[in-house]
Amino acid sequence: MGLGIAYVTANVTKLPVVLMDINKEQTEKGLKFIDRLLLKDVAKQKITQEHAEETRARFSTTNTLESLSDADFLIEAASENLNIKSAIFRNLDTICKPEAILATNTSSISITKIAAATKRPEKVIGMHFMNPVPVMKLVEIIPGLATCPEVLETTRTLATSMGKTCTVVKDIPGFVANRLLMPYINEAVMLLECEFASAEDIDITMKLGTNMPMGPLTLADFIGLDTCLAIMKVLHENTGDSKYRPAVLLQKYVDAGWMGKKSGRGIYNYK
Ligand code: CAA
Repeated sequence: MGLGIAYVTANVTKLPVVLMDINKEQTEKGLKFIDRLLLKDVAKQKITQEHAEETRARFSTTNTLESLSDADFLIEAASENLNIKSAIFRNLDTICKPEAILATNTSSISITKIAAATKRPEKVIGMHFMNPVPVMKLVEIIPGLATCPEVLETTRTLATSMGKTCTVVKDIPGFVANRLLMPYINEAVMLLECEFASAEDIDITMKLGTNMPMGPLTLADFIGLDTCLAIMKVLHENTGDSKYRPAVLLQKYVDAGWMGKKSGRGIYNYK
């Protein structure tokens, strides 16, 4: 998702972007992915060759957080894990200039908790993009308990300049998008677990019966079963409500390393 966010930022807002990953291989792969997106958009005549070259020139990469000390706005898109995110924010807080805004693309973790890892919780905000970022029009903006109104406004301006429509949501588990989407996906996995219908029939029902672009199980594979499980666990643990209990089959697939499309196997087999 980080790459999708970076692509839209450089391509639409025309701001310079630094791609950061601790692994050099990932930033190299990232630039290749950006090149592919640009080529595709040129081929579809969505952008000119000149526009593509200008966009590409806005990218640089780094593998150390220290080199982000000059950045004005940072968007973290690491794995959906509070410890990882808190460590990143703790480090960014010591490295980044005091006025820098630290945003997180978390899909369900409390912004207030992530902000508490820093000494600038007023500058920390949730900026929840949808996958695939270049296509999906929504950004959920989530102020934490201490986020100041100016930071909310700057974040809204940035998301709008990316061509996105923003909603503002309180810092509740799952926010709005995943509070609705994940129980729906989880219920579909439970139906499969109980063998009430085949995966294909569950998906066809929602695709053809309610005009969803993808059925819930295809969508779960697309999002990543590990991500779906992590979000269900956040909903379950933070509300204490049994209606959010993750499906046993969802846990089993993740235990097996079947993470969905990205691992070649999930609910469906992609190999
Ligand atoms: N990156 C960039 N562009 C992409 C893309 C990607 N990964 N995948 C598809 N696209 C583009 C295609 O290039 C195509 O563009 P054009 O119209 O310009 O040709 C367009 O999207 C449509 O793609 P396709 O024709 O290949 O396929 P499709 O019509 O089946 O659409 C889809 C694909 C957009 C993914 C569609 O199936 C869809 O909307 N699915 C639901 C996606 C969804 O619900 N996302 C939210 C997930 S939840 C989330 O992200 C939040 C969270 O916290 C978990």
